[in-house]
Amino acid sequence: MALIGVFDSGVGGLSILDEALRQLPQHDYIYLADSANAPYGEKSNEWITARSLVMCKYLANQGCDAIVVACNTATAQAIAQIRSELSIPIIGVEPGIKPAAMQSQNGIVGVLATEATLRSDKFNALLATLPDDCRFIKQAGAGLVPLIEAGKADSEETLDLLGKHLAPILDAGSDTLVLGCTHYPFLSKSIRRLLGTTITLIDTSDAVVRQLKRQLEALDKNSESKKNGSVTFISSKNEVSLLAMAKDLLSNDLNLHSSHAVMLGEMS
Ligand code: DGL
Repeated sequence: MALIGVFDSGVGGLSILDEALRQLPQHDYIYLADSANAPYGEKSNEWITARSLVMCKYLANQGCDAIVVACNTATAQAIAQIRSELSIPIIGVEPGIKPAAMQSQNGIVGVLATEATLRSDKFNALLATLPDDCRFIKQAGAGLVPLIEAGKADSEETLDLLGKHLAPILDAGSDTLVLGCTHYPFLSKSIRRLLGTTITLIDTSDAVVRQLKRQLEALDKNSESKKNGSVTFISSKNEVSLLAMAKDLLSNDLNLHSSHAVMLGEMS
C-alpha cells in the first residue's frame, strides 16, 4: 500500500483524486489544496515554481511514496524543478491536446486553460509536436477558478463568464474542447448548457491515474486490498470548507474512506 500526495492550487485536483479513489481505493491519500493562494494561473512563472516546490516538499516530508501534481499550471511551470529536487515519482497533468487532435472530426479544437499554462514553454513544446492540420483555439479561463473555489461552479455568474470565454471556441466551430485545468471538469454541466451535448470534452484524469498506477507497480506498492485507504485533506485556507467541498464535488462516497481535514501548518 502507498501514501499518495495530490496537490493543487485549490479544489481542482479533486477531479484527479476522484478518479484515483475510483481506480486505486486501497491507498492512503493526502490532498493538499493551496486555496489561500489560488488562482495560480494568473501569477508569475517564478512564483508558481517556488510555491509548487514548497508544497511538494511538504508532501514528501509527510512520507508520500509518490506525488500527483494535480494542477496543469504547476505541472507546466514547475514539474522539471520538482523532479530535480525530489527522489519520489512525480506525476503531472497536461492539457489533453494530443488525444483531442486524434478524436476531433473537423480538426478544430478548443483549449480552455489558465494563462500561465498557455504561455508555458512546456505547453507550447507539446503543441509544436502536433500535426498542423489541427487548429487549436486557445482561451485563458480568467476568473473561473475563483468562482469554482467559492462553490459557484453551477451559478449564473459562472455561466455568463464561461459564455464569454467559450464564444471564440464556439464561433470557430470546434467539435472538441480540452479542459486544460483540473478545476474545469467541475464546469462540465455549465459547459454542456452552453455548447450542447455533441462537443467532445477531453479531460485527462483517467490517463493520469493510469500513469500513477504504473509508477506504484514499479515501486511494488500497488497490492490489492479489500479495505479502502484514508484521505487526509490539508488546506492553506479553510480545512472545514475543503472537506465540505470534497464531499460535494467527489462522486466517490467519502464515507467509505476514513477522512479528516487539517489546516496546513498543523501537521509536523
Ligand atoms: N487547477 C489548476 C490547473 O489545473 C490551477 C488553476 C489556478 O489556480 O489558476 O491549472
